[in-house]
Amino acid sequence: MRSVTLFRLLPALLTLVCAASAVCMASAQPRPDPKPEPKPAADFPLQAWMKANTAPAMERADLTALASALDRVAAFAPPRDYPNWASIARDGANAARTGQLEPVKAACRSCHGQYRMKYKTELRIRPIPPSHS
Ligand code: HEC
Repeated sequence: MRSVTLFRLLPALLTLVCAASAVCMASAQPRPDPKPEPKPAADFPLQAWMKANTAPAMERADLTALASALDRVAAFAPPRDYPNWASIARDGANAARTGQLEPVKAACRSCHGQYRMKYKTELRIRPIPPSHS
């Protein structure tokens, strides 16, 4: 007698379970945002400055712009622990003033090779020192 009742109720029970699970599935898996807003990768101060100054000057092979950019880079020298920073930048600026692009590129490479990783780990959030000229 009992099992007969259960048997009769089975379809209804199944419907109920399915409906419940469908609801559960729908609420458990909210649709992801179709197009999440792309977050602009915020650059760090020197990184942004390099991209806005040295990089475009180098792309144009603009020796005048490279000379003044590298003069500024020399003035960005951290107060300690970066002993060759200013001289590398000054050498690059002087090479640009004498019309030579290769030694300018060497200055970029030299500083990046010696100091870029160090700067990124130690001083990355440091603001760009203000210009005095
Ligand atoms: C005396 C040191 C020094 C000199 C010279 C120098 N840089 Fe840099 N540059 C750095 C440091 C340090 C960073 C890393 C900044 C950061 O990522 O926070 C950097 C980063 C950059 C970046 C950003 C890269 C990126 O996408 O993250 C570019 C581009 C760049 N430099 C171009 C140049 C060019 C071109 C020159 C030569 C004309 C040059 N730099 C000369 C120190 C220097």
